[in-house]
Amino acid sequence: MKKSIVLLPGDGIGPEVTRAAATVLREAGHEFHHQFEFEEFPIGGAAIDAAGAPLPNATLDACRKADAIFLGAVGGPKWDALPVGKRPESGLLALRQGLGLFVNVRPVKLLEPLRLISPLKPERLGDLDLEIVRELAGGMYFGERGTTHEKGIERAFDTESYSTPEIERVANFAYARAEGRSRRVCSVDKANVLVSSQLWRRTVVARSAAYPDIRLEHMYVDNAAMQLTLRPSQFDVMLTTNMFGDILSDAAAALVGSIGLIPSASFGSSAPLFEPIHGSAPSLAGTDSANPIGSILSATMMLRDAFGLNLEAEWVEQSLHRVLSGGYRTTDIAGPGGRTVAGSVFTEMLREEMQRTLEHAERYGWGV
Ligand code: IPM
Ligand code: MG
Repeated sequence: MKKSIVLLPGDGIGPEVTRAAATVLREAGHEFHHQFEFEEFPIGGAAIDAAGAPLPNATLDACRKADAIFLGAVGGPKWDALPVGKRPESGLLALRQGLGLFVNVRPVKLLEPLRLISPLKPERLGDLDLEIVRELAGGMYFGERGTTHEKGIERAFDTESYSTPEIERVANFAYARAEGRSRRVCSVDKANVLVSSQLWRRTVVARSAAYPDIRLEHMYVDNAAMQLTLRPSQFDVMLTTNMFGDILSDAAAALVGSIGLIPSASFGSSAPLFEPIHGSAPSLAGTDSANPIGSILSATMMLRDAFGLNLEAEWVEQSLHRVLSGGYRTTDIAGPGGRTVAGSVFTEMLREEMQRTLEHAERYGWGV
């Protein structure tokens, strides 16, 4: 298989975690005889510094031509004073928009060796394995916004707005995703207050007619936040707006131990984009302590969801479990009995474990 992959390391810990993802992809290419070609481009603050804009044309053009894109993280205190639209985050939002990426999947799955670091009691945690399907191209993120000055009073506004087709396409995606899982979709809205949510709910219900074997339920976002904390294992696929998905995915990530563990994949009209859901964590940048797992799992999502390479993805995931079972942890997930290692050391241990998995494939029950 021949694929061109664009790497967008970005800011803060972005470059470190992107290196981890690239290591995993390179190994997969090498061991399974795929030609993965990598090209790196600036985005976010790094692009503001290098090219004067958070999403330079050359970066967007390269992404449009790629088979898949990997992004580290964007943002940092250096660019915090910039106005909305000129900030590093605008580069990511413009990229999502420019590539027509309308849906973002965030799997939140308990990694068994990390069960004890969850802030939830084991009986509450259960077998947490859910996916947040987040609308990515609309809602308040892209609605009309502005500021007004009237009678000496300043006002600022952002608008939440959704059209039927925008809701339909993300609902279809969530139903299809649920068909490959436990066939349950929980649609999250605030239909007791917002008219955009009422259209959301009506449209989600209307689309469900095409998926008779899916069990659909609805939850107000405030209740969904509470239920996530009380009994997260009740959820299979959570379908959300852009804004609600942003909030709930960070909350859900905390349940499995760290936001550093959660990958994501975005799909739309062109190449899919893979990125860990964590931010650029400026205070960790350069300390080699960032958790590379969210990034590594985003790479396995690329293997599986962009290239259909299930065997390769499983190879990485199984090996990752074994490294964690050995007690090796980055600081954010260090728990009782764990051995804390630097991020790059963790990635190197994973690489070695991947080699061992190949050597002992039969014993480990992998690929046979
Ligand atoms: C995320 C991030 C982004 C978002 C930021 C960096 C623009 O928080 O991917 O969840 O809000 O979508
Ligand atoms: Mg977020």
